[in-house]
Amino acid sequence: MTTEPQSVPGAEPQPVLGPLTTAAIFLVLTVRPGGEETAREVLGDLRALERSFGFGTPEAALSCVAGVGSAAWDRLFDHPRPAGLHPFRPLAGPRHSAVATPGDLLLHIRATRFDLCFGLAAELMRRLRDAVTVEDEVPGFKYLDARDLLGFVDGTENPVGAAARRAVLIGAEDPGHAGGSYVIVQKYLHDLDAWNALPAETQERIIGRTKATNLELEEPASHVELNTITGPDGEEQQILRDNMPFGSPGGGEFGTYFIGYARTPDVIEQMLRNMFLGTADASHDRILDFSTAVTGTLFFVPSDDFLDDLPALPEAGEREQ
Ligand code: HEM
Repeated sequence: MTTEPQSVPGAEPQPVLGPLTTAAIFLVLTVRPGGEETAREVLGDLRALERSFGFGTPEAALSCVAGVGSAAWDRLFDHPRPAGLHPFRPLAGPRHSAVATPGDLLLHIRATRFDLCFGLAAELMRRLRDAVTVEDEVPGFKYLDARDLLGFVDGTENPVGAAARRAVLIGAEDPGHAGGSYVIVQKYLHDLDAWNALPAETQERIIGRTKATNLELEEPASHVELNTITGPDGEEQQILRDNMPFGSPGGGEFGTYFIGYARTPDVIEQMLRNMFLGTADASHDRILDFSTAVTGTLFFVPSDDFLDDLPALPEAGEREQ
């Protein structure tokens, strides 16, 4: 797990390591039969479109990461599958379930300005409109000092620099897909009335950090502890999260869009098992008593080099198998 991804030359990643931003749009799409060519064209043009909208305002850090779902891979590319690509594995715990929902393409668009995210999303959808079905579209925003709608600072323990690259980018373990990543998204809806009825100290024990000062607490059954996992060598296994609050105050909807990138889906899946199925210390993550996962999808994020020079489209007969 500690192999440096840079040991495989010529694998420029998509902007998965981009900074946390103040705005994002998450689009999950399925490709209609016959829409494969258009989907491929848009994937191939992604970086050029990003430049068109973002070049004039580099300080706004506009970026778009595209992910490809398991069922779409063999329809889009005549190329060996990434080793860890499979459909999202649903979980049914004693109290809460992680559902699996459809998704052939993920577009994770982010910037410090929502208008840029909007402009890029609009152009991508103008081109994709007849080729895809929109499964989910979520505009996310930074809330206060990077808090989720439960009121806690979210993202503090994300790895940075070399640790982030090690956690997120595939290296020599799957050389044909070096520079790629895996990403899992889940849309959570919160019962904020019930959550806000809890005393702040109870909320802090559930999360595992203090609310006002964002300091870590010793709390074995907390969300933070359930998501602190180590590999066989005792080294902490990290993922890169870019969760975003979203919602509709008028509609009474308050949520967290969870998005986690990792070099292998195993790490995120272990975290999900801890949260939903429990551990020796906790029957489940109590964050789930106030948060319902309404979507769940796994995608592979190919490198930029892969998008730049896409493998051939499979023959029509092979696509339908
Ligand atoms: C930590 C919120 C879902 C993985 C945290 C923290 C907050 C938080 C406030 C503490 C600060 C930080 O380090 O970011 C939420 C909310 C969720 C959610 C509101 C959805 C309702 C998930 C899911 C996963 C996950 C589904 C993994 C599958 C992690 C990890 C940490 C973390 C790895 C850092 C643990 C450490 O300290 O090393 N989350 N989270 N979270 N969360 Fe979540």
